[in-house]
Amino acid sequence: MTTTDSPLVLGIETSCDETGVGIVRGRRLLANAVASSMDQHAVFGGVIPEIAARAHLEAMTPTIEEALRTAGVRLQDLDAIAVTAGPGLAGALMVGVSAAKALALATGKPLYAVNHLVAHVSVGLLDPDDDGAPTLIAEDGSLVPGLGALLVSGGHTEILAVREIAEDVEMLGSTIDDAAGEAYDKVARLLGLGYPGGPVIDRAAAEGDPKAFRFPRGLAAGKYMGSAEAPGPHRYDFSFSGLKTAVARVVEAFEAEGQEVPVADVAASFQESVADVITSKAMLAAREHGLSTLLLGGGVAANSRLRALAAQRCTENGIRLVVPPLSLCTDNGAMVAALGSRLVSVGAQPTGLEFTAEPGLPVATVSMPAAALQA
Ligand code: KG4
Ligand code: ZN
Repeated sequence: MTTTDSPLVLGIETSCDETGVGIVRGRRLLANAVASSMDQHAVFGGVIPEIAARAHLEAMTPTIEEALRTAGVRLQDLDAIAVTAGPGLAGALMVGVSAAKALALATGKPLYAVNHLVAHVSVGLLDPDDDGAPTLIAEDGSLVPGLGALLVSGGHTEILAVREIAEDVEMLGSTIDDAAGEAYDKVARLLGLGYPGGPVIDRAAAEGDPKAFRFPRGLAAGKYMGSAEAPGPHRYDFSFSGLKTAVARVVEAFEAEGQEVPVADVAASFQESVADVITSKAMLAAREHGLSTLLLGGGVAANSRLRALAAQRCTENGIRLVVPPLSLCTDNGAMVAALGSRLVSVGAQPTGLEFTAEPGLPVATVSMPAAALQA
């Protein structure tokens, strides 16, 4: 029986290097099991898709079992299954999609193929935990009006406008080259700091001067940006390749002179550039699109400077900032289950078994339509 009020939903996430299986009942989080293959990618300084896919395959069954055990439920108790269908790495996505189809086929439960980015936002639908983490649900159960999301991770960097989470989500801006987390990883390598780059640069930056070097803010001026009256084509978009090159030039210049690279100052100045451009573009998009609540998600939400500057600028602009607990900011299955639960509650049509993983799934496709409904 499907309880539309508080459906029991299992969510599977395998779009990058985390194998995530989450279980929610309505808006209550019951389990969030995650296995990461990050250690296996460390020697390469970035995620290797084939290694990630193989690791998902090995971790899938144990992670599903762990989630069921933690939640204290059985597969046959579920009301629905949800899985990330995209965007993400093709081979990695395929593992989660195949597992979800197998479970749906074996149990006869409805299957929802959902969008990874919208799933990131959906953690805000879950009931607040004991620490009182904020929620995106108003007292009457509806989504807060004027909701936006700023997603910053190793795989993506986007500003979204979320009008109705189950069906109306718009991409306002995204990166045109590297994701912010990738820029962290590449700059950490230039500075000899190891992988993943985010936490090590964050730590090094704490000892440095963020004003030591003035690094570029990508796409923050000129014709790509335009004006409020005549917006340019990349007004809310990001680019981090110029920043990465600028850091490389500085490092090379010190090395050419035989001088020690001031690692802490470079890290702090790089971090300032990333946090500044991300938050100023998010504020601009928020002002121009009437966004009054902003959810910060993705692994880079762990960054101390990004959090501080986002908090400061949101306060200055009268915007409520929502930062979920870090375990729900990084890739996980609970966010997929949370979105699945919402889809069941609003009576959305399940996808069924006739679909394939879509590495470039657009954000407007919150959940893939059933084959019979596809044109
Ligand atoms: O969301 P996430 O777990 O998934 C992927 O994109 O795969 O994000 C991981 C990213 C990595 O690039 C990592 O360097 C970054 O989040 N990250 C940070 C910090 N902690 C993790 N970036 C900046 N500062 C941090 N403290
Ligand atoms: Zn993600």
